[in-house]
Amino acid sequence: MRIVDIINKKKLGERLTKEEIEFFIFGYTKGEIPDYQASALLMAIYFKGMDTEEIADLTNAMVYSGDTVDLSAIEGIKVDKHSTGGVGDKISLIVIPLVASVGVPVAKMSGRGLGHTGGTIDKLESIEGFKVELSSEDFIKNVNTYKMAIVGQSGNLTPADKKLYALRDVTSTVDSIPLIASSIMSKKIAAGSDAIVLDVKVGSGAFMKSLEEARELAKTMVGIGKTLGRRTVAVITNMDQPLGHEVGNANEIREAIEVLSGHGAEDETEVALTIASYMAVLGGAFTDIASARKHFETIIASGEAIALLKKFVEIQGGNSEVVSKPELLPQANFHIEVKSDLEGYVAGFDAEKVGLSAMMLGAGRSSKEDVIDFAAGITLKKKMGDHVNLGDVLCVLHTNSEKTIEAERIVRSAFVISSHKPEPVKYIYEIVE
Ligand code: URA
Repeated sequence: MRIVDIINKKKLGERLTKEEIEFFIFGYTKGEIPDYQASALLMAIYFKGMDTEEIADLTNAMVYSGDTVDLSAIEGIKVDKHSTGGVGDKISLIVIPLVASVGVPVAKMSGRGLGHTGGTIDKLESIEGFKVELSSEDFIKNVNTYKMAIVGQSGNLTPADKKLYALRDVTSTVDSIPLIASSIMSKKIAAGSDAIVLDVKVGSGAFMKSLEEARELAKTMVGIGKTLGRRTVAVITNMDQPLGHEVGNANEIREAIEVLSGHGAEDETEVALTIASYMAVLGGAFTDIASARKHFETIIASGEAIALLKKFVEIQGGNSEVVSKPELLPQANFHIEVKSDLEGYVAGFDAEKVGLSAMMLGAGRSSKEDVIDFAAGITLKKKMGDHVNLGDVLCVLHTNSEKTIEAERIVRSAFVISSHKPEPVKYIYEIVE
């Protein structure tokens, strides 16, 4: 087999066989196929696409390009969740204890943040003592005992995706549905869970800017899950503005505590309850979404949910006192109010700019080597549909840096203020099953 023939086939719009796809993925991972030929094939895939079977074959080859996690020692149907990336997205922190409460094991492997979106692992590390590096024995033991555990991504999982993603980044081939879908699903499948709930974000702070694109990505990923034997559901959610009010790390933990205590932001609560309900149904704890949701609402109201979050922090070695006393979480030295110089309604957001501004305050990384300031972040005081008077506080920047002019300018430009009140925001657009 020759890679040049495979490139030519795809250039002509023909479908690739499983063997051809494996030849490419395994050869490229081993360094036997050079970047220039891999780039040519990626561009051919970008323009000519792939059918469902080809995408599933591509995903499967990426899964087996490296190690896979064996969760077979965990009893029950292991359910994972994945977000395609958003700003202020603290849903994982909320759903882990909720789903564990119904006996569905959540063995979560999570990543760190890069660029305008944060990572769950970074957020949790703002809790003193919280360990995200567990041996696989401890990880499995914790899931079997408490039904919940989280670990940072480690090991040689999907090396083909790591190499290809870096290449896509510099060859303008990131925004291709077959390539995005196989990249995401290969990591989820290699992480070992039996069922997956995908939170596909759409809007100004997301990868997918239109509902049509998000729907196509969701359908493609659900199709991959079906072909590769993992029950998969995708929830398409709004990312036209950050989720909730907090963007950062420690402040996002505070907001997750508020949701699990029953007084969280409406959008955050709605998305979290929907995702948790689908996870509970896929895990076999309920037969329908409405009953699962009712159960979660009940345990939030009764205080059981917040007690479970406390337990989760405790078993991961963190200071669980922060759950009842969030003021113990890292606090910034400076709190800068950004005031409106316009009057009207918040009619839109550039959510990506809010994430970028938070990153500049120290809450995120612009390169992998950057060190996060857990106390840094942004609290939004106004969201879509809110009325704003001249001089009203739009948001508060939390920082330990004295150089905030650029971050202030960027976050101010993220608010779209209009004289017309916008239509009410939809938090969830569609479910793809
Ligand atoms: N997230 C991923 O993991 N891969 C992509 O290709 C895009 C988003």
